Amino acid sequence: MKADLLVHSAAQLCVIPPHDDGPQRGRSLGDLGLIEDGAVACVDGRIAAVGPTAEIRADWWAAVEIDAAGCVVCPGFVDPHTHVVWAGDRADEFALRIGGATYQEIMARGGGIMSTVRATRAASPTQLLAASRPRLERMLAHGTTTVEVKTGYGLTVADELKMLQVIAALEMSHPISLVPTFLGAHAIPAEYQGDPDGYVDLVVQEMLPAIDAHEMRPFAHLPTPLYCDVFCDQGAFTLEQSRRILEAARGLGLGLKIHADEFANLGGAALAIEWGAASADHLVCTPAEEIQQFGSCDTVAVSLPATPFGLGHCTYSPAGAILDAGGILALASDCNPGTAWCESMPFVIALACRYLRITPAQALVAATLNSAHAVGLGNEVGSLQEGRAADVLVVDLPSVEHLGYRFGTRPVKRVVKGGRVVV
Ligand code: NIG
Ligand code: FE
Repeated sequence: MKADLLVHSAAQLCVIPPHDDGPQRGRSLGDLGLIEDGAVACVDGRIAAVGPTAEIRADWWAAVEIDAAGCVVCPGFVDPHTHVVWAGDRADEFALRIGGATYQEIMARGGGIMSTVRATRAASPTQLLAASRPRLERMLAHGTTTVEVKTGYGLTVADELKMLQVIAALEMSHPISLVPTFLGAHAIPAEYQGDPDGYVDLVVQEMLPAIDAHEMRPFAHLPTPLYCDVFCDQGAFTLEQSRRILEAARGLGLGLKIHADEFANLGGAALAIEWGAASADHLVCTPAEEIQQFGSCDTVAVSLPATPFGLGHCTYSPAGAILDAGGILALASDCNPGTAWCESMPFVIALACRYLRITPAQALVAATLNSAHAVGLGNEVGSLQEGRAADVLVVDLPSVEHLGYRFGTRPVKRVVKGGRVVV
C-alpha cells in the first residue's frame, strides 16, 4: 500500500501506549512501547501503521522516506501550559532578581505580569502576532507539535479578546496545533488595586460571557475548544475568588485549569480536583494530603520545572509523591516572559530528570501522552498508535536514556506535523 511518508530504521521507536485507553498513571509511568529498528507509515496526516521496519516495508511504500538509523523516533511533544503570546521586555526584572529581589516583590511594585500587560495592551494584533510567531517557530524546532496558549496579559474585555484573536490567527498560520485558554484571572490589574473582588466581578459578569460568545471557529475541531484558568496564589487570586471564576466558567461549559501552589498553598489543587479540572499546574508547595488526591481523579498534575529553575529556586514539584499516589504526571514549559522563557521541551525533560527525579522514559511519557491528556487531546496526539495524528519526531540520540542526560543542544533532527515534514 502507498503511504505519504515512511519513517524507518529507527534505533528505538517509542509508541508510548495508552494504558486502559488513558494516560499512564502513577508508577506505571514510563512504558515506552519500544520497537527496535522501528518504522511508522503515515497516510492523510494520520499514523497508518507502526512496527518493525521489515514488517512495515513489506506492506508499505512511500514517495517520501526518512531514514532514522541511529535515532529515536517518538511522538511530537505536547506542551500543555504556556503564555507564549505577549509583548514587551522584562529582561530588567531578571537582572533585579539576580540582585536579590523576589518575583513577588517585583509584582507588588507594579512590575511582573502588569509590566507585560501594559505592553500587550499597547500592541496591535499584528505586533503581537509578529512577536509570538518566532517563539512558536523555535518550539517547533525543539519538537513541540501541540501547545496550549493562555491569554492573561490583556485583563480588559477588549484586550483579552484581542489575545484570543491572535491565538486564533497563529493557529491558522502556523503548523503547531494550539489549544486556547482564557486566563483573565492572571493578575489584579492596576485599575482594580484595592478592589480585587470588583475585578472578579468583571471576569465573571463580562469577560467570561464575551469570551464564550467569541467566534472560536479555528478551534471547533478540539474536544474542548476553550479552557479557563485562574492564578490561585499569594499576590494573585484567593481560593474563594478562584472558585467563583471556575464555577462561572464551568457553567458556560468551558474546560477548567488552575495555577496552584507556585509560591504558596491556598488549596487550589484540591479545588481543581473538586471541580473536575483537566489539570492543576505548578504544584511546588502542595501538601501531602492534596497530592494524595491526584490518585483518585482524572485531573492531570502538570509540573513546570523550568519555572523554579528560571526563578533560581531550589524547590520543585514532589513528582515521586504524585506517582506514589497514582496520579497522572505531565510536564510543560510554562514559557512566559517573567518566570521561564523556555521554548524547549527537551530542556524541560533534562530539568525533570534531575529535580523531579524521574527517568528519561518517564519524562518522555509525561511530555507526550500524559500532557496530551492535560489539554483534552489524550486520544488524538501524544502516542504513535494507529489512527492518531501523525506528529512524529526523529531525535538524533541513540536511545531514550540519552534524552535529558544530554542538554544544551537541540537533539531533534526532524519534525513531522500531521504527516508533513516541517523541520
Ligand atoms: O506560570 N504564575 C503565573 N503565570 C506565570 C508567570 C507569568 C509572568 O510572570 O508573566 C507562571 O509562572
Ligand atoms: Fe503559567
